[in-house]
Amino acid sequence: MFFTIADAMKVAVPFVELANRDALPAARPLRVIDLGAGCGAMSLGLIEAVTRLGSPIGLSITAIDRDAAALGIAAAAVRQLATVRGLDVTFTPRTDDATGAKLASVDLVVIGTLLNELAAPARQALVERALAAIGDDGAVIIIEPALRETARALHELRDVILATGAGHVFAPCTRAGAPCPSLANPNDWCHEDRTIKLPPLTRELSRLTHLRDDGMKFSYLVLRRQPLSVVEGPGAWRIVSPSRSPKGKHEVTGCSDPGWVSLRLLRRHRTDANRDLERADRGDVVVISAPPGDDRVEVVADTAVVRHVPAKPRGS
Ligand SMILES: C[S@@+](CC[C@H](N)C(=O)[O-])C[C@H]1O[C@@H](n2cnc3c(N)ncnc32)[C@H](O)[C@@H]1O
Repeated sequence: MFFTIADAMKVAVPFVELANRDALPAARPLRVIDLGAGCGAMSLGLIEAVTRLGSPIGLSITAIDRDAAALGIAAAAVRQLATVRGLDVTFTPRTDDATGAKLASVDLVVIGTLLNELAAPARQALVERALAAIGDDGAVIIIEPALRETARALHELRDVILATGAGHVFAPCTRAGAPCPSLANPNDWCHEDRTIKLPPLTRELSRLTHLRDDGMKFSYLVLRRQPLSVVEGPGAWRIVSPSRSPKGKHEVTGCSDPGWVSLRLLRRHRTDANRDLERADRGDVVVISAPPGDDRVEVVADTAVVRHVPAKPRGS
């Protein structure tokens, strides 16, 4: 009752990032496999994301889980939400072991909080099978908890997939290569912390149980078979930290080809050209005209900074 609703919108972040980059397959309905679907959080989130995009994309979802009772709950919830949203959604539950299930050709595979329940070799094999199930215009969306161990395992998996050549990373990284820079320090991990307005009943459950303080925290990875980055360009940095504002400065950590680097603006250098650095939040991408120095990107008066919010539906 709590987690399925509270976690559903995690998938909207990568889904809208793909849509904004015109990187969703043209097939309608969009054929989706929801692996380890449980009570349907990812499928429900896709319905909401499609609704927020304002485009009535139909969905044909095959939901695979070894828990038949959970799939029953998912089927009822998906049917009800699709009706309320006026979307054409077919939902086919399949009780099966995700690690061995045959995957038909689809446009999207979503894997929500499943990998951390599998042994490491099974994770890689599963993701490789998911990549084999999509076409060149498709995507595999993986959501994992924002915990250090599970997120770092996802970063390692990212690097293995890149090394084997089975897939390319679309998001969250603007850095196409391996290794993931957050693996350099055992205390680092890359994760999202997005604001979310929970529906009233879920908010009340959260208040009573203290199941979640605030924010929607998760790690994610979007893989494609063809290279494409959420925002292209050598100066494109994904912001991977909250902002820090020591006296007279504005600082965030950005991730790009050079690794994790501090992006710093001394307030006395603030101009219209660089103001977007202060406007940018964790999860945004900033394109900065200045190259990195030894240990930071120093944004000065004539440095151009352009903020991208890849997960914001166009026109919203
Ligand atoms: C934490 S839940 C996640 C449910 C949903 N995807 C979400 O994002 O909220 C993990 C789900 O994976 C399923 N699962 C774990 N191992 C599995 C396996 N080998 N084959 C099929 N399902 C599995 C569990 O039954 C459970 O429903």
